Amino acid sequence: MLNFKRIAVTLLVIASLIAVMTNGLVSAGEARHTQSFDSAWRFCAGEITGAERPEYDDASWLTVDVPHDWSIEGLAHSESTVEDAAELSVVRGEWKFNKGDDTLWKNPKLNDSSWQTVKLPEHWEEHSNYTEDNVFGWFRREVTVPEDLRGKDIFINVGKIDDADETFFNGVKVGSLGHFPPEYATAWDVVRHYKVPHEIIHYGGKNCIAVRVFDGVGPGGIYDDGTRVTEGIFESTSPGGSGGGYINAGTGWYRKEFKLPGNIQGKRVFVEFDGVYMNSDVWINGVYLGNRPYGYSSFQYELTQHLKFNGEKNVLAVRARVQQPCSRWYSGAGIYRHVHLIMTDPVHITQWGMYVTTPEVTEHAATVRVETKIQNQSGMPQQVTLETAVVDDAGINVTHGSSILTVKADSTCVFEQSFKVPNPQLWSLENPRLYHVETAVRTDDRTVDAGVTPFGIRTFEFTVDKGFFLNGKHVNVKGVCDHHDMGSLGSAVHKRAIERQLEILKSMGCNAIRTSHNPPDPALLDLCDRMGFVVMDEAFDEWKRPKTIYGYGRFFDEWSERDLTDMIHRDRNHPSIILWSIGNEIPEQDNADAYEMSKRLSDICHKEDPTRPVTSACNSPAEAMKSGFSKPLDVVGINYQLPAYQTLRGKVKLLASETASAVSTRGEYNLVRDGDTLKIARELNNQCTSYDVDAPDWGNVAETTLKAVKDAPWVAGEFVWTGFDYIGEPSPFPWPSASSYFGIVDLCGFPKDRYYLYQSQWTNKPMVHILPHWNWKGFEGQQIPVWCYSNCESVELFLNGKSLGEKRLIDTRDLHVVWDVPYAAGTLKAIAKRDGKIVCTDEVQTAGAPAKIVLMPDRTEISADGDDLSNITIEIVDSDGRVCPNADNLVKFRIDGTGVIAGVGNGNPISHENFKASERKAFHGLCLAVVQSKRQRGTIHLSAESEGLQAAQVLVHTK
Ligand code: GAL
Repeated sequence: MLNFKRIAVTLLVIASLIAVMTNGLVSAGEARHTQSFDSAWRFCAGEITGAERPEYDDASWLTVDVPHDWSIEGLAHSESTVEDAAELSVVRGEWKFNKGDDTLWKNPKLNDSSWQTVKLPEHWEEHSNYTEDNVFGWFRREVTVPEDLRGKDIFINVGKIDDADETFFNGVKVGSLGHFPPEYATAWDVVRHYKVPHEIIHYGGKNCIAVRVFDGVGPGGIYDDGTRVTEGIFESTSPGGSGGGYINAGTGWYRKEFKLPGNIQGKRVFVEFDGVYMNSDVWINGVYLGNRPYGYSSFQYELTQHLKFNGEKNVLAVRARVQQPCSRWYSGAGIYRHVHLIMTDPVHITQWGMYVTTPEVTEHAATVRVETKIQNQSGMPQQVTLETAVVDDAGINVTHGSSILTVKADSTCVFEQSFKVPNPQLWSLENPRLYHVETAVRTDDRTVDAGVTPFGIRTFEFTVDKGFFLNGKHVNVKGVCDHHDMGSLGSAVHKRAIERQLEILKSMGCNAIRTSHNPPDPALLDLCDRMGFVVMDEAFDEWKRPKTIYGYGRFFDEWSERDLTDMIHRDRNHPSIILWSIGNEIPEQDNADAYEMSKRLSDICHKEDPTRPVTSACNSPAEAMKSGFSKPLDVVGINYQLPAYQTLRGKVKLLASETASAVSTRGEYNLVRDGDTLKIARELNNQCTSYDVDAPDWGNVAETTLKAVKDAPWVAGEFVWTGFDYIGEPSPFPWPSASSYFGIVDLCGFPKDRYYLYQSQWTNKPMVHILPHWNWKGFEGQQIPVWCYSNCESVELFLNGKSLGEKRLIDTRDLHVVWDVPYAAGTLKAIAKRDGKIVCTDEVQTAGAPAKIVLMPDRTEISADGDDLSNITIEIVDSDGRVCPNADNLVKFRIDGTGVIAGVGNGNPISHENFKASERKAFHGLCLAVVQSKRQRGTIHLSAESEGLQAAQVLVHTK
């Protein structure tokens, strides 16, 4: 419920803030009032009838604050739940199998005795050596339906099928998942539960099941029996599949009651959602406002005409529908970004109505062009005076001016103003100086609207032969791709969580972010502007041809223009953005109409923002060039496909929009005995080694890509897949793996060894890093491969004080130096030199048994705003304080005071422990507790204990 006094107080504060920020330019008070609409929502999962009606009784619903992700909280109403009693699992056992395709094969009377007999579940590559891609095959079997189900419909569980199927029961089609060509889409990791109507069942007798299977790529066939295992929020048969991290979503409802004072009548009132995942419908006081399918778009509705004032109750209702599978990665579900209530005068700046560009920039002066879109909803023409000031980051008004225009009744009008800024302070990666435009809109000497729009002054250019330039200086794009989830916090946005990720990336030397594969939360862009990252802002992962059954393809025709335009309007003032990406690995790359499709979207970008180039991340760049897909692009993005750096050289501007996809698990090395020697197993027990040797066949290990990009200076640089591990897409493994292995940093923000490889290539401050850890009891005397990453000239390695030799980086084609070291417990030390002088060292020591817990908060003072975070790393150490690299102790937390535990994690991709919990097992000696402030000043006490270990406590102050 909204508190009148609070509104009044906030209005005053905002008014005085505006007055202060505008150097006296704007004096009036209540021009525009934007208020957080995040707190005190009601939430309930599931399809609910009548919940949009104001009088609906939601007393039994949960009270939540948004941003909120109901999936990560385990509140999903599982769509995969079917009546167990009436479901027959039909996969296990003997089937008949035949390669090829014939619709007659569904016929129950068909004589299939000549078909191959196979035992399922098993991939058809294995049972029939059927290794071709883009092929069909049929399976048939008989099943008995028990007599005691007579008269009842049943479900059959046909398990997981690679890739698409059509299933027939006694010759009648009962279900199908995935799409057959030409609109091919895989549903390889989704369990088939098909309903069979009682009319077609022979109870107590034989029934024929025939399954037509299409395999696009991969091993093909009915390979998993679809047994449901549920552990915490993870469910092996979740309709979200491995892509969604085996976490369910479904439908959810939110309602928020609020009251408005009488004195704001006459104002226009809007609600703005930074993002609702997904397919949201919104009602105010029972009146339907609209639907927004794309979960990554920001959108606004006007509420004014349906509102009640004078303290009467208003109800805003939101339904989000997440039909899975809808995404190739964990999407989260719900109002996962911020919500704002905006009140304006009838004459006001429109949503995203400010557009600031810098068409001319020299050392001596910059031209700043400001477009301001004003809407007049006052019912009569208005003479509008627009006052605009350009203010630098020290708060100095460097130039200002005003314009007068008449805005007709019920229409909008764009003001165009131009300013000269002398001696501009350029926005750069090292020194991201920002300016802002301060706007005041006046009618009849009354300030009716005001705003502040940050922007930056910089130039940039992609070239065909030399890569990328920022402010005339060559810059190698050292970027990462990232998805939007924040590990244990799920997809719910926390600005501090994003900031922490960027801090971690910055100290690795990263300077660029690709918002794969969707528009990001606005906070990410604000932070990139402020912290000095360039951004590739991406719109889509798919167009019309779907990658997942319930993906964006369903909405593309109707919504793509709107979604893309809105993204550009929302984001185009951010100096960090250097590219609009119209899509990732778009299946239409080789379509006959590839050119038209790509041109339509590129044209939208060019029209809405002519100042930035357009790209698309192409996994088949050669096809994209041939089909015309790449023609409308200003920069061609190459995903993987290292040879294309050469073959496309000189033809177009190039960017390595996605690279590597190297996989590793923090702390795992997978050293196994092979006779008398040790070898590195790339993959073992669903874990990938941290030696940089493992990548899927479409990708490359990190070193390979780093070298390829270095050797191709005409390519603008790279975006590594990925900076951080994310939930879902646990390639190369299916269940029980649930989160990705691609990250340079794990799901908790703990760097993997590869982090230091990138640091050695992307930074200059002396560093050296040793891997692996040095706890190899039982391997005494065996040769352990020891790798060092360094940006110095040479590294000398010592075991227990004895030199194992000095190696120069220049003497190897690799980006690391290596020693085979016979294991003996103790200390391994690396010293790195430049010009013969020691400039840095690293050390790993054999740790003893776990003895105590150490808590290490990243911040001990956080804001008492109900949103800020302290990330507390928990280390399990021996009695001398050395981290125990194999420790997996269960740590239990207790929290008191002015904070709550927002999430816990340990970075283990196969862990099924919940993220919303007050305990966590350590993984390779570490786990994380994310503590969130309440809206209250004071102190948070976090204590951690574990059986047999000395406990620990930490204080975090909320101010
Ligand atoms: C790429 C794709 C990414 C991710 C990656 C995994 O082809 O663009 O979204 O799936 O593969 O290697």
